Amino acid sequence: MKTLNLDLGERSYPIFIGENLLGRSELIAPYVAGKKVLVVTNETVAPLYLQQTLKGLQDFETDYCVLPDGERFKTLDTVDTIFSQLLTGHYDRRSTLVALGGGVIGDITGFAAACYQRGVPFIQIPTTLLAQVDSSVGGKTGVNHELGKNMIGAFHQPRCVIADTNTLKTLDGRQLSAGIAEVIKYGLIRDTAFLSWLDDHIDDILNNKAEALAYAIEASCRHKAEVVASDETEQGNRALLNLGHTFGHAIETGMGYGSWLHGEAVGIGMLMAADLSMRMGWLNKTDVDHVDRLLDKAQLPTRAPSELSYERFLELMQVDKKVLDGKLRLVLLRSLGKAVVTDEFDPQSLRETIEAHRAVSNHTGLV
Ligand code: NAD
Ligand code: GLY
Repeated sequence: MKTLNLDLGERSYPIFIGENLLGRSELIAPYVAGKKVLVVTNETVAPLYLQQTLKGLQDFETDYCVLPDGERFKTLDTVDTIFSQLLTGHYDRRSTLVALGGGVIGDITGFAAACYQRGVPFIQIPTTLLAQVDSSVGGKTGVNHELGKNMIGAFHQPRCVIADTNTLKTLDGRQLSAGIAEVIKYGLIRDTAFLSWLDDHIDDILNNKAEALAYAIEASCRHKAEVVASDETEQGNRALLNLGHTFGHAIETGMGYGSWLHGEAVGIGMLMAADLSMRMGWLNKTDVDHVDRLLDKAQLPTRAPSELSYERFLELMQVDKKVLDGKLRLVLLRSLGKAVVTDEFDPQSLRETIEAHRAVSNHTGLV
């Protein structure tokens, strides 16, 4: 097992990464406050990992809440069902919520924990690659609004993160690919050596090779922890973690939540950001081809949906937390491995980027 630390003063916490961590009470128990624990999970993950998780919580008064599965349930209504269960069960301020699942469960549960009685502790047990490399770390919690992705939320750090890499064995290939998009992101924004490693190892990750997965998760969490430690509430550099997200969130909202997976939308969003960076004279064609090749290796789409017109894209992109005083800001690449947040892009170049990538999509999702 590897232990990383996210250094945030009194809100610091460990990130445990390894095999067979579920059910180990010595890992989870020290981070439980009080007596009562509510494990929040969904109908897909519960039959796989709930019993094992409960085993590690035997010393506590534990109950669980099983939510429907899907991005379309990442709503305030779903959070309200958690509140109802907490209130009916007389959970007090020293109760702990445990998020057992992918990023959707983590974001919903963290937000419920941030709001319930103005804040109770929570623990992240991420079970998708995307959640283990990104969403479980850093304390961004929240839900979607029909007008915008992740627009309702709060910063609320977990007490610890337990990433059991065994859980990834039951994840399907499409979900694994979606997680790789966020792994590629760290290379693109701050680590060219990691990009080279990914060139050689994406196949191993897709084939669930333990060593490659462990390295990718550890390297990703290390990057995420460093960035969050330097800018917890995104006053500056943390926004760099949003490479590809303004394009991607527009696709997720515009196509209907769950139609494109978050990682798929972020993947093509990163390619669009690279393309716009080339039109700004910052990247060259070889760099953009490199991004395209990485996505292709990860079996991610490299075309944006033709259903979204340029005008609709732009309208959706305006609903973004990086917009300041009405001005759209984007994360672009000065070079591979060096990202910037900027509002100084040429609107005509943005239009050309969107038009160039709107094509009959090679998105292979089933939904
Ligand atoms: P997800 O939570 O929908 O999980 C994907 C699918 O895999 C679901 O059907 C889920 O039930 C299933 N699943 C989960 N674990 C499994 C397992 N071990 N075996 C088999 N099936 C399993 O999607 P995701 O990709 O994990 O997360 C995407 C969400 O994360 C988006 O809502 C995105 O906005 C959010 N996100 C948040 C942050 C953050 O910092 N808070 C960062 C990135 C993404
Ligand atoms: N996924 C972006 C962030 O956590 O800041």
